[in-house]
Amino acid sequence: MIHARIVGTGSHLPGEPVTNDDLVRRGIDTSDEWITTRSGIRSRHFAEPGCKSSELALIAARRAIEAAGCAADDIDLIIVATSTPDFIFPSTATLLQAGLGIRNGCAAFDVQAVCCGFVYALATAEKFIRSGSHQRALVIGAEVFSSILDWADRSTCVLFGDGAGAVVLEASSEPGVRAMALHADGSYHPLLWVPGNVAGGQVTGDPFVRMDGQAVFKFAVKVLDEVVREVVDLAGVPQDSIDWLVPHQANIRIIQSSAKRLGLPMEKVVTTVSFHGNTSAASIPLALDCAVRDGRIRPGQRVVLEGVGGGFAWGAALIDF
Ligand code: UT7
Repeated sequence: MIHARIVGTGSHLPGEPVTNDDLVRRGIDTSDEWITTRSGIRSRHFAEPGCKSSELALIAARRAIEAAGCAADDIDLIIVATSTPDFIFPSTATLLQAGLGIRNGCAAFDVQAVCCGFVYALATAEKFIRSGSHQRALVIGAEVFSSILDWADRSTCVLFGDGAGAVVLEASSEPGVRAMALHADGSYHPLLWVPGNVAGGQVTGDPFVRMDGQAVFKFAVKVLDEVVREVVDLAGVPQDSIDWLVPHQANIRIIQSSAKRLGLPMEKVVTTVSFHGNTSAASIPLALDCAVRDGRIRPGQRVVLEGVGGGFAWGAALIDF
């Protein structure tokens, strides 16, 4: 039986941290106290104006490929999860492929599941690998989320940041990804969306993130522990065998609540929201790479990734490292 294993991780955050007080200095009507208390966020990173998601993805991808000990040309599938693609087309994945200098003609495409995008991309890559059609996939979450923030809307602009995270997923005879669950319910779409588009060369509608924060909060808390229990059941492993939970990093209160409902102590939860903010599709692979590189997540350990966001779309993965 062919399994899919994560054999390398990498990430990238642009520029210097921007603190909550920096946002106040930039003229946003907020305070460090409000942002910290409501979300747990203390700082985030923003890309320079004009910087594209594929540029952040390229640095994260190079680090993941180096960690995997392979060459860029050994990659035969590239999937990028992003809500802030460089262009309407081509896909950010093909631009990344060109940036990496990969000329082997491998498949490259984007997936769009907002903050759950990385989990969707990982599930897609895992199925390609388990089918035997592909050997080594580069799976990335990359966002220049600042490009769709309305700086006059303090209820959203203080919450998000930019960055990219990547993994290399490889065919193996040993189990790696043991179970994945993906869900969506489009009837919730007006609670978190960018209700704009391009038509006739003009932006029509509203090109910025709009969110009903409280409704999203309640939904996230409800589905996150359900989907973790689902992957634990699908994998047929005891829940107390989970070494690490790597949740989407939107709000420390959502993360704490989800861990509590699962009966997981916070010592087993990787949190980066305080210094990354919410980087949407990049948040889970960024947090994963942090915990791999600082030695918390080690070979042989069992990790659950979980995400929820616009759509709504949500999902989880149970993975043996
Ligand atoms: O990644 C996708 C998923 N996204 C999320 O998971 C986000 C989920 N939601 C949340 O994290 C929280 O709902 C928020 C952090 C967005 C908001 O926290 P809250 O405790 O639900 O606050 P609230 O929306 O009830 O806002 C309360 C007050 C309002 O003032 P009044 O009307 O009560 O006087 C807002 O105007 O806070 C005010 N407010 C702010 N004040 C200072 C809103 N934004 C700010 C701000 N600074 N940045």
